Amino acid sequence: MSRRDGWAGFKAAESARTAHHALAHESAVGHVTGSALYIDDLPEPRDLLHAWVRLSDRAHAGISQLDVSPCRAAPGVAAVMTFDDLPAGTDVGPVAPGDLVFANGEVLYHGQALFAVAANSIAQARFAAMLADVGYDDRDAILEIDQALEKQAFVLPTREIAQGDAGGAIRQAPHRLRGRLRIGGQDHFYLEGHVAMAVPQEGGDMLVYSSTQHPSEVQHLVAGVLGVPDHAVVVEARRLGGGFGGKETQPAHIAAIAALLAQRAGRPVKLRLDRDDDMVMTGKRHDFLVDYDAGFDDEGRIHGVEFMLASRCGISPDLSASINDRAMYHADNAYYLPNVRIVSHRCFTNTVSNTAFRGFGGPQGMMAIEYLLDEIARHLGLDPLAVRRANLYGKGERSLTPYGQVVEHNILPQLFDEIEHSAEYAARRRAVADFNRRHPVFRKGLAITPVKFGISFTTTHLNQAGALVLVYTDGSVQLNHGGIEMGQGLYTKVAQLVAEEFGVAMERVRVTATTTGKVPNTSATAASSGSDLNGAAAVAACGKIRARLLEFAASHFSVQQSGLRLVDDALFAGQRRLCSFPELCKLAYLHRIQLSDTGFYATPDIHVDKSTLRGKPFFYFAYGVACSEVLVDTLTGEYRLLRADILHDCGQSLNPAIDIGQIEGGFIQGMGWLTTEELCWDDRGRLTTHAPSTYKIPAAGDTPTDFRVRIADWSRNPAATVRRSKAVGEPPLMLAISVFHALKDAVASVAPGPGSVPLDAPATPERVFMAMEQLRARGLQEAPGRKTVAET
Ligand code: MTE
Ligand code: MOS
Repeated sequence: MSRRDGWAGFKAAESARTAHHALAHESAVGHVTGSALYIDDLPEPRDLLHAWVRLSDRAHAGISQLDVSPCRAAPGVAAVMTFDDLPAGTDVGPVAPGDLVFANGEVLYHGQALFAVAANSIAQARFAAMLADVGYDDRDAILEIDQALEKQAFVLPTREIAQGDAGGAIRQAPHRLRGRLRIGGQDHFYLEGHVAMAVPQEGGDMLVYSSTQHPSEVQHLVAGVLGVPDHAVVVEARRLGGGFGGKETQPAHIAAIAALLAQRAGRPVKLRLDRDDDMVMTGKRHDFLVDYDAGFDDEGRIHGVEFMLASRCGISPDLSASINDRAMYHADNAYYLPNVRIVSHRCFTNTVSNTAFRGFGGPQGMMAIEYLLDEIARHLGLDPLAVRRANLYGKGERSLTPYGQVVEHNILPQLFDEIEHSAEYAARRRAVADFNRRHPVFRKGLAITPVKFGISFTTTHLNQAGALVLVYTDGSVQLNHGGIEMGQGLYTKVAQLVAEEFGVAMERVRVTATTTGKVPNTSATAASSGSDLNGAAAVAACGKIRARLLEFAASHFSVQQSGLRLVDDALFAGQRRLCSFPELCKLAYLHRIQLSDTGFYATPDIHVDKSTLRGKPFFYFAYGVACSEVLVDTLTGEYRLLRADILHDCGQSLNPAIDIGQIEGGFIQGMGWLTTEELCWDDRGRLTTHAPSTYKIPAAGDTPTDFRVRIADWSRNPAATVRRSKAVGEPPLMLAISVFHALKDAVASVAPGPGSVPLDAPATPERVFMAMEQLRARGLQEAPGRKTVAET
């Protein structure tokens, strides 16, 4: 059957409504058959060179010697670039400088790029890179957050958000708790590592295929290091094998190295990082140190609270300003804090510069308050769920956030009611207590935690997007927008919206690779707002074309324009079918009607005062609740997640199948962050967990056998997003905070009575085991007439 027959073969039923339907991901078949091309799969251009980057093996040192002449003389080598060989710009810092392409006389972290080699094969490039003579003068390094705090070493100024009188309220409250929590970082572990292929064009132009969430930024930074205007660089990305924030700023460095070597050699260059180098060389989720001081009443209701959030930013600012701002903006999570002070230190450390990771600081802020509420419940001997509910945002003054935005349309009370009922919380709480009384070795734990996540870039100007829609005379549509497909289904959702606008089947709409040559000056696909922004921009473009088509049709068919509809792959006047969509396009073309257009969208109604961080940073909030139950082996600390119930708010979901996938994936990724994924640096600043052998992400077998994921299908976004949908990319990650607190609940069961249950994140089996040992020892000390562990 020819392609044209295929078009004719569409059935009306298939081409009915497309938005809000559970359609498969546009590349689903390609993903499973291998026909979906990632950058490393693209046909390789003639004369392609392969690059290797030589990394620093000191955390902080002067470079006393760097002799690359042996590299230049090695077999197959076409180009070697050091800092001194850079032709123009030297820095690829995304917001502020600080990220040098190559080290200049000094290295600031173990894994920093010293220089790069391009050769005929990867093996030759790697071999050559190892031949350099490198000498160091070691200097003192700051490797821990605590050291940075002590030395007041910060990459950015300390920020504060305050409301009411936190200190006074804490002192006057009936109860007070102070404590400290450490929250680990996380490696992105995208299946596709960082990769860029730079292909020189005529006249000094450069085409760069980059695995990036932010093509416009790669374009701009590559142009800067090459010493050419932005218009001479085109950056293209069809899809990423996962980004998770790790490809928001980091790809510029990889692309810059490939482009510099390509410019120098006059040949195409591909740089695909080896997994270990990827983990060592590129930034991760910030680990945090949290101090809290809270005053509360007998019900556990917080009267006043102070948080000190200190994060490991690494050697440069990267995105740490916005990430730490977002941590502060989420230290309330779902709870009203009448008197609050949040202080945020952005610590300098001689470790890789940390970067965006799903949730963007929000998860760490949320962990702080959820941990505190759990500790309050443990202190008072209450069910943590009761304490959480007592603190939820409410109406009137109880709806004011610490930063001045009012929480409107808060659906969390409903979500709590629903999940308590559907997850049978009360009955299972009793069953867990019963189990724990009967079992000497195994313990269970149960927890419900909520998510309230602010949607919008807190840097207001980033909340914009563009699209370019091209309709051809055969009725097929080519869709281009600035968003990046990284597995999250953005391309599918935007295509659904476009199909719906023209009333055509999905098959008529072809999404093409995102390129800076078609839609300029885009924001990163990040902050979960990809479909909100690009979807709205695409709809705007379609709206202009549609209006022209209908205006033309009204005069051509001599009918009222108001009665015209584009549905079921055809043009209708009331119930009367006038012509097919392809026929309409052909007719319009013959009458010289423009069949393409651009669309633009800027999120309305948001603003932030940069000096106080107060305002309305978020267009709306996305909500969710999760209930997790774990089983722990008290002899080893090993555990399993037995059951997880999730109820998540997607507004009116654009595609429930894709959204369920985002919820499941986000939850499991969050569980990895808080349980098994542990980043360890040794005392020389070397990342010792730089491969899957030592860094443990959750596997398929770690998903709970009983996994009940539901979308709150009654929810509609009160904010005017495309079709009342809500962003879903990041929020579900934080539902995994329930897994951590279920583990904490299981640990608490070995304690003799009320009291603190200290447990840092990630709650690895070792930490869970040690936490239980600590509580058991406390039990022995407290039990009258019994000897303490030390005495026996
Ligand atoms: N889902 C998949 N499969 N792969 C990814 O890389 N990234 C997450 C989330 N979901 C990611 C993902 C992150 S960090 C963000 S910000 C959003 O997707 C970005 O896409 P969106 O704005 O279209 O939701
Ligand atoms: Mo997501 S961390 O905003 O790329």
